[in-house]
Amino acid sequence: MQRIRKAVVPAAGLGTRFLPATKAIAKEMLPIVNKPSIQLIIEEAAASGIEEVIIVTGRGKTEIVDHFDAHPQLELALARAGKEALLREVLRPTQLVKISTVRQQRPLGLGHAIACAAHLVGREPFVVFLPDDLVDSTRPCARQLMDVYEQTGRSVVALMNVSRSEVSSYGIAAGEFSAKDPRLLKISHLVEKPPAEEAPSTLAVVGRYVLEPEVFDYLLRTTPGRGDEIQLTDALAAMASKTGLYGYLFEGDRFDAGDMTGFLLANLNWARKSPQMWRAVEQFVALHRTNQDS
Ligand code: G1P
Repeated sequence: MQRIRKAVVPAAGLGTRFLPATKAIAKEMLPIVNKPSIQLIIEEAAASGIEEVIIVTGRGKTEIVDHFDAHPQLELALARAGKEALLREVLRPTQLVKISTVRQQRPLGLGHAIACAAHLVGREPFVVFLPDDLVDSTRPCARQLMDVYEQTGRSVVALMNVSRSEVSSYGIAAGEFSAKDPRLLKISHLVEKPPAEEAPSTLAVVGRYVLEPEVFDYLLRTTPGRGDEIQLTDALAAMASKTGLYGYLFEGDRFDAGDMTGFLLANLNWARKSPQMWRAVEQFVALHRTNQDS
């Protein structure tokens, strides 16, 4: 079995849900406390053992690439001022993984965005990270899927349970759970954003996928689906019925940073890691709860 070394991060979307904030800034650069959200994604990739990340970008996304590049002038200024801790933070994004980029020239869908990276991935298994999905977990979410891939030798998608009213926002999977591992699902059905009454289950696909290179062949044959876009889910549904596909109910907390409330909750979650910041949040909430009650 080939070792997984590469990952693809599609980041070409316009970020319309965050306008006007994203008029001149890539949505992936919006900060979760002090880090652009895409840095959390690349940190998860590095912690999972990924060595090379291909970011699929579009117009107006150059600052993403700048963020993971060196900034000699700033580094020198921080070093001269003796600001060692800040210097480490500035250097960190440059030390995580090797970054390459490719442009998606037209917004033809997630499946198309992944296919844009085919020539850089080559014929080897890889991980897809959707940057809107932030996961806080003890064992990195992607690593959990990579371990499943090492056991099964098949593509694996991350799953979580959602309420029936939410199924129309996700890819929904159904199949049979393994007798040995209650988190492992052999997928027989996969459908992109079904209406609640048509959903085959409430098991939603979260933005982490370990994919065999054959996915590129399936993507080439995938015609536009929901939203008239080339959907990764449709290519994976075809794979599930031919070569096989697994789902894994990962351990960890997932935040939808592509949604304003989810983004706020993600900020609170990461702020919780600083006792000082968290005390301020608690005081703020306590004060406003009292005001509301009175
Ligand atoms: C994408 C996928 C969907 C998946 C979701 C997870 O949708 O198409 O299958 O469940 O990510 O966040 P998006 O949220 O980008 O519309």
